[in-house]
Amino acid sequence: MVVDKLRSLAPIDYRPADLVDVGGGYQLRSEAARAMTEMLAEAAAAGLVISVESAFRPYDHQQRLFANAVARFGEDGAEQRSARPGFSEHQTGLAADLGGGGCHIESCFATTAEGQWVAANAHRFGFLVRYPDGSQGITGYKFEPWHVRYVGVELATELHDTGVATLEDFFGLPAAPEYAG
Ligand code: DAL
Ligand code: ZN
Repeated sequence: MVVDKLRSLAPIDYRPADLVDVGGGYQLRSEAARAMTEMLAEAAAAGLVISVESAFRPYDHQQRLFANAVARFGEDGAEQRSARPGFSEHQTGLAADLGGGGCHIESCFATTAEGQWVAANAHRFGFLVRYPDGSQGITGYKFEPWHVRYVGVELATELHDTGVATLEDFFGLPAAPEYAG
């Protein structure tokens, strides 16, 4: 499934039935969790400690996060950083936020060895850095080097090898910089 500002969860309070633990008290859907566990183990074998710092978030959790983002960044700033409830990939159980190298869900993750390893290797495990630099006009979000979405190895590898940056581009979906209406 593709979730963006024009494509909400359906139903809006969707909750996956196959969530499993991925550490840190977080959960992903089983196939994504297996892939995440493999990815973090391979990173660890390369001497990099990467941790899951968010994963599945239910509707009501996203509602609180979005409200906090509005309080902190204002309406416009929040919209560039946080999805409204029912519109977050985190609610699919297929997206996770990663941290490491002293950088936790911040843009500095892109400059750490851990973040660079994720950018170069996530596709081999089926993950896509979903909000790349320079794609805000399509995704609606600022660069999030820490946020990965599970799409399966085949699609993630094709996106990586062809250099297509977003799911919207790949599937020919309309750019989703803003909500409809
Ligand atoms: N930070 C991402 C866009 C979310 O809230 O789902
Ligand atoms: Zn995220």
